Amino acid sequence: MWVVTIDGPAGAGKSTVARRLAERLGWQLLDTGAMYRAVAYAGIRAEIDLEDESAWGDLVLRLIVELPPGRVVLDGEDVTAVIRSVEVTRSTRHAADSPSVRKRLVDCQRAFAKDVRNVVTEGRDQGTIVFPDAFRKFFLTATDEERARRRHDEFTARGETIAYDSVLSDLKDRDARDEARAIAPMRPAPDAKVIDSTGIDLDVLVASIEADVRHALLETTGRVAH
Ligand code: C5P
Repeated sequence: MWVVTIDGPAGAGKSTVARRLAERLGWQLLDTGAMYRAVAYAGIRAEIDLEDESAWGDLVLRLIVELPPGRVVLDGEDVTAVIRSVEVTRSTRHAADSPSVRKRLVDCQRAFAKDVRNVVTEGRDQGTIVFPDAFRKFFLTATDEERARRRHDEFTARGETIAYDSVLSDLKDRDARDEARAIAPMRPAPDAKVIDSTGIDLDVLVASIEADVRHALLETTGRVAH
């Protein structure tokens, strides 16, 4: 089993880099942010008290989140688009702060990797908590302004109108919570390669990460990844 982890804050380029890297290596992609978003969406839809840990505990045990290529399916319903909305984005912190939700999703993430064998996984805690023995670990960052601009462009492209300043302040709030969380706070693993993606073309970044992974694979196995 080969695992490459890509962690970092919102808008640092993780999703694009992880998706393209997985395509180029022919490995599976695991978008763990999508799992937290899907659980948050389920919580909103079930109208649970988002501050109530036992309500999250009950809910998460009953949910089935599936990640077929390019999609997110919650209890059989395609939720790929709705989980990217401003409302779900804002509420996801409640699901992410819940110990029961984290435990269940970490179990699912490890089971996914065991099942598919070769995986590029992205999130906040993949290199630190979920896959501490991952083969290669990366932590992407970028300036707050660049990350907010990327997220603002994504909302606009999906037809959601939200002020840039609002995206910037949401993003800073989210980072602060992700970094301060008692369980699995967002931080680079000690053995992660930290990359600042500000001003870097993401295709160029993917190519350099791919070269790094292939080189490491060759060193370890003497074989080229396929
Ligand atoms: O990466 P994305 O923006 O989709 O993640 C949404 C939220 O899910 C993050 O702000 C974070 O609170 C949470 N998350 C997490 N652990 C992960 C992935 C995401 O807590 N591994």
